[in-house]
Amino acid sequence: MKRIQKIAIVTGASSGVGLEITKKLVKRKIKVYMVSHNEDRLDSAKKEAENLSKEIETIVVDVRKRNEVFKAVSKILEANEKIDYLINCAGVSIHGDFGKLEERDWNEVLNTNLKGVFLFCRAVWPIMKVSGNCQIITISSASGNTGYSGGSIYCASKFGVNGFMEALALEGQEVGIKVTNICPGQINTAVWNPNDPEVNKARAKMLNTKAIGELVEFLIKRPWNEHYKKINVNPFAIQPYLKGRNRGPGGKFPEQKNIIKTQKNKTFRI
Ligand SMILES: NC(=O)c1ccc[n+]([C@@H]2O[C@H](COP(=O)([O-])OP(=O)(O)OC[C@H]3O[C@@H](n4cnc5c(N)ncnc54)[C@H](OP(=O)(O)O)[C@@H]3O)[C@@H](O)[C@H]2O)c1
Repeated sequence: MKRIQKIAIVTGASSGVGLEITKKLVKRKIKVYMVSHNEDRLDSAKKEAENLSKEIETIVVDVRKRNEVFKAVSKILEANEKIDYLINCAGVSIHGDFGKLEERDWNEVLNTNLKGVFLFCRAVWPIMKVSGNCQIITISSASGNTGYSGGSIYCASKFGVNGFMEALALEGQEVGIKVTNICPGQINTAVWNPNDPEVNKARAKMLNTKAIGELVEFLIKRPWNEHYKKINVNPFAIQPYLKGRNRGPGGKFPEQKNIIKTQKNKTFRI
């Protein structure tokens, strides 16, 4: 009997977490459409993943743009009749002192991290509703659970994703689409400033991209009756010295220091 091939879209597949998820899926003989917006990076990621399977296609899409997202989904549907998995992983990280952040930073982060997830979910939703037994998995962030200094815009985007995913998970139950939101803490990817020695020292203690790939693999393997709506996963080793450090574009900003003076005039820096 011929196996019916499963079809997945992975956004942000050109690097980091998205590339690792792609590798996990293709190893399971799922056909993956790798999506990101830089063609060169996407092509070299495809070459890397093709060592594991030839069932890979790439589509250059800017997730911020409705037309590009809907065109890509139409193209995939014409070739396959269905889409079994959507993995939303595309994201950008702009951090910094709030007084130095601009409207363009807001637009860049919100349009990629939140609107991009909305557009892809919206494009596949009617298709998944018809076929049923489909899954949407979004890589949000621990920054969607807790705000922190320097993360104002990024946290706003991920808090938005978490609310969106929570609502969609319930609506999906009504129509046969299983929605899961993964909220990881620090993951060792290029998103962290590679020129920051403190960050580089901490990399070994961060989550590995494999951890997120394995979570996605776990989710697609579970019986249909099990629904993991939200998964929080963090490095076990807490690294307070990384708090508030810049990642992504932009410069560093000063470490936070609280000075406490006791009644007996002792000074503590915490
Ligand atoms: N690293 C962490 O510590 C961490 C922690 C929690 C959550 N996350 C989340 O995990 C996800 C993946 O992050 P990562 O660390 O793997 O980062 P990454 O290596 O920088 O990957 C980001 C991916 O998003 C794509 N992308 C960015 N803007 C896009 C756009 N407008 N249209 C299409 N694709 C776009 C990039 O593609 P191009 O090559 O085309 O730029 C790239 O493939 C993000 O949503 C991030 O917020 C990361």
